[in-house]
Amino acid sequence: MTDFTYETHHAAATETSVRIAQVPQARLTRRDWVRLASGGSAVLAGLAALGVAGCKDAGAQSVQVTLYATEECGCCHQWAERMASAGFDLKKHVMLDVTPKKDALLVPVDLRSCHTAEAGGYVFEGHVPPALIRKFLAERPADRGLAVPGMPGGSPGMEDSPKQAYEVLAFQSNGSTRVYAHA
Ligand code: CU
Ligand code: CU
Repeated sequence: MTDFTYETHHAAATETSVRIAQVPQARLTRRDWVRLASGGSAVLAGLAALGVAGCKDAGAQSVQVTLYATEECGCCHQWAERMASAGFDLKKHVMLDVTPKKDALLVPVDLRSCHTAEAGGYVFEGHVPPALIRKFLAERPADRGLAVPGMPGGSPGMEDSPKQAYEVLAFQSNGSTRVYAHA
């Protein structure tokens, strides 16, 4: 991830930048600078995204996750339990078919798994390890989200099946991917 500093962005060196610079833990990404450059309430949105808006321990707050899953898919609910144990605040939407939701959220077809989740403006498809979701949300990269295609054995929620090596992919809405982690 590319970080931009106050010094290298003179165009954005406004009163806003000074306020941001006073928050020591703020790490500004390209996306945040776009928000800053557009000014006004977008600045507040940028600060909120950084988790620094008037709250020192924003990192300790539990993150809201919306899960879309079918009733009968047991591994989805086991994944939900792993997420809850990891401190995420889960809201479940049980549906007859998750496919229309995956379509609406632009999850590339070849990356799909059983359940789909949304958090922090990102999409998490399948049995993504909770710790990687936390890391990804803290980094706020320019991807659409993370996916673990299929249902690899031994992944969170799939512990009943023998452990398989698998990749956690970061994806864009156009279907392009990069390997985010090996698990
Ligand atoms: Cu599953
Ligand atoms: Cu599932």
